[in-house]
Amino acid sequence: MSDDPVGGICAELGEDRVRAIVARFYARIRSDDLLAPLYPDDDWEGAEERLADFLVMRFGGSQRYAETRGHPRLRMRHAPFAIGQRERDRWVELMDRAIDGAELDPAPRDLMRRFLHDVATFLMNR
Ligand code: HEM
Repeated sequence: MSDDPVGGICAELGEDRVRAIVARFYARIRSDDLLAPLYPDDDWEGAEERLADFLVMRFGGSQRYAETRGHPRLRMRHAPFAIGQRERDRWVELMDRAIDGAELDPAPRDLMRRFLHDVATFLMNR
């Protein structure tokens, strides 16, 4: 899968481990001074599920995200939130810590990190 390097991650790690990373990530987001205020206070579980479903799909697992949310349109869906360098860097920092907690082999870990860092940069709108 050289043209889609992250597409095999779920097959290698299993969806459960991807979901566990997102659960750890959201546990930190919820109490983060900079990022928590951006998220809907009454739908933390829904937000966690949307990101987990998206990543599982993007990493080659179940298509549930597309079935429930349609096309990701991530730039458009993030337009309501002011995402500058600080927000991007904090998001990436919390995600890296969540990934570290999964104790993955270096190859899938680095692939996952690079993908998430690149998308986070792409989503900056300030
Ligand atoms: C750069 C820093 C980022 C910030 C501050 C941010 C913030 C947010 C916020 C506030 C939401 C709304 C929560 C909800 O109700 O679903 C959201 C949704 C979402 N974010 Fe991000 N995000 C960032 C980066 C990313 C990255 C890197 C990805 C993917 C690799 C991503 C994927 C998603 C997805 C899939 C949703 C749900 C979209 C939907 O179906 O409505 N975000 N994000």
